[in-house]
Amino acid sequence: MKKIRISIIGFGVIGSGVAKVISKKRDYIKHRHGIDLELVGIGERNGGIACEDGVDPIEAYNLAKTKEMEKHPCWKEEMNGINVIREVNADIVVETTPTNIDSGEPGLSHMMTAFKNKRHVVTSNKGPLAVAYKELIKTAEENDVQFRFEASVGGAMPVFNLVRECLQANKILSIKGILNGTCNYILTRMSTEGMSYEHALSEAQELGIAETNPSYDVEGMDTACKLVILANEILGMDSTYKDVEIEGITGITIESLKLASDKGYTIKLIGEVEAEKLRVAPRLVPKDHPLAVGGTLNVMSLHTDLAGEITITGKGAGAIETSSSILSDVINIAKR
Ligand code: HSE
Repeated sequence: MKKIRISIIGFGVIGSGVAKVISKKRDYIKHRHGIDLELVGIGERNGGIACEDGVDPIEAYNLAKTKEMEKHPCWKEEMNGINVIREVNADIVVETTPTNIDSGEPGLSHMMTAFKNKRHVVTSNKGPLAVAYKELIKTAEENDVQFRFEASVGGAMPVFNLVRECLQANKILSIKGILNGTCNYILTRMSTEGMSYEHALSEAQELGIAETNPSYDVEGMDTACKLVILANEILGMDSTYKDVEIEGITGITIESLKLASDKGYTIKLIGEVEAEKLRVAPRLVPKDHPLAVGGTLNVMSLHTDLAGEITITGKGAGAIETSSSILSDVINIAKR
């Protein structure tokens, strides 16, 4: 049995969700893959937990839920994210701090510190990837560690691993899809229930899928970040967030959705990258088109030279769904 020690940096909805899923799936993963996942560190802004004999993931999850992490017997104020990464002997750092698309921080420093301390990194955090993709990949390579980020785009929907494993012989020519669950939810509720934009947005916030600042979702920035990550990793581009032409969904009215519907269309916020051009904008999509998925779903079509069009869909947000991709990356690294 191979033991893999994990530190989680950023113990909010996603980070604590990963702990919960580690607890739930630990026996299954031992049995199925011969890998024992042990949580040894948790880093937050105001302190953290370092315990090389193992932290009980459920105890930590419950304390995170009631915002009482400092009540954990091993909690130390000086053990913030950076110190946990440096000092706790973890094989893999799971970085799940909130996305910051301006500077990428604090995630960017966490990832760089992890690489320089020879730790592999798995993340769902889009910010660092959208502002410093090349630098991150280079630093991971220089330190001979792995860097995986399946959860950063499309939540549970596998795209990077799909391309890496199953489409290896293909050149990917373009990518197009719905990459933001919050916008898809709002547009779906407005169009099928006639619900107001404000009401639908507050429902999306209640579902816990919207960003802390929901303007990131509705103004298209979240989709743009994901598009940049896809363009760089899959199409080999060197783009940043600033290269994306962005229009969000705040101008879409119930009337325009109704008008589209009467003609057999729906309106979706589509991100697309083709011929080095990155664009996010509301688009008319025929109701029976594969991209016309509803609710919180994400969907992506990859245009490839050998396999033709490959379309994938799945839940693009949510702690448990995102943990599915994070653990897939963790297991992949452990197997290597
Ligand atoms: N706010 C994002 C969404 C979360 O709605 O898709 C997942 O990146």
